Amino acid sequence: VTIGRTARSVAAPVTVRELRTVDEFRTASELLAAVWEQDPGSRQVTVSLLRALSMTDNYVAAAYDGEQMVGASVGFRIGDRNGLHSHITGVDRRSQARNIGFTLKSHQRDWAAERGIDVITWTFDPLVRRNAHFGLVKLGARATAFLRNVYGPMDDALNNGDESDRLVLEWSVRPSAGVPEAGLDDDPPPLILVDADGRPAALKWSGGQASVLLPSDIEGLRVQQPTLAKAWRAAVRSVLEPALSSGAEIVAFDREHGYVLRPRGGA
Ligand SMILES: CC(C)(COP(=O)(O)OP(=O)(O)OC[C@H]1O[C@@H](n2cnc3c(N)ncnc32)[C@H](O)[C@@H]1OP(=O)(O)O)[C@@H](O)C(=O)NCCC(=O)NCCS
Repeated sequence: VTIGRTARSVAAPVTVRELRTVDEFRTASELLAAVWEQDPGSRQVTVSLLRALSMTDNYVAAAYDGEQMVGASVGFRIGDRNGLHSHITGVDRRSQARNIGFTLKSHQRDWAAERGIDVITWTFDPLVRRNAHFGLVKLGARATAFLRNVYGPMDDALNNGDESDRLVLEWSVRPSAGVPEAGLDDDPPPLILVDADGRPAALKWSGGQASVLLPSDIEGLRVQQPTLAKAWRAAVRSVLEPALSSGAEIVAFDREHGYVLRPRGGA
């Protein structure tokens, strides 16, 4: 199993800065809508919301390649703890997988550290392999909870009407020295079995180490085979939701196995 929390990355050659003007907010709003391929006029975040967050010292920033905005990230302070909730981060499709997301999140963490904030939280779709790798492995955040259909069904192109199950991540602002997880099995038993037609069937976690496989491209499946995509949603939900609320933690993630679970604090 490839162990999480050990990846090292270098910043992309982009500049990240906080946004201040209405023009910048508009560009960010349009960029984020385009990442989720939303209809013109429909927005993940509006210009006025970005302005309101920015003028109340929340996090509204973007990455620039020269003059071109190529990514944006928006977060707000958490009321009942010393944290920042990162609501949305997106990188222009043509610029993804070039470390720009990593560079944006690094800027976000520096921003939080300057304000004495301890933790950054965000949620991600547990079926999207790219985002699981990005959050758990590349950034070394920890999954703390499973939320069922937390925003209701979502109509943008990446979700295509599917229910919005999410994993909650917590990312420490002062990272500990990436200590590798010890004692993981090479081949933890799978809790999701895939039949000859590619349909997933889920088993219940009953303690010990186990893996939770993901499809290679859920976003493509939602468009091409929505029924199969929903079956994957149900299978991953039926494993992760009860497991995480009954003592399992996610200790690793890779393409071959998906998530690796084990009892919290032990082998
Ligand atoms: C998630 C997102 C913000 C990351 O930004 P980015 O600039 O692509 O991020 P980076 O290049 O720093 O890192 C992406 C990592 O995912 C990996 N990756 C890409 N596609 C993958 C896949 N299908 N499976 C597994 N890993 C994948 C990349 O290889 C890279 O990891 P590596 O550097 O260890 O090789 C961006 O991809 C995005 O905007 N996605 C669509 C919107 C979205 O889902 N946002 C929610 C974020 S939680």
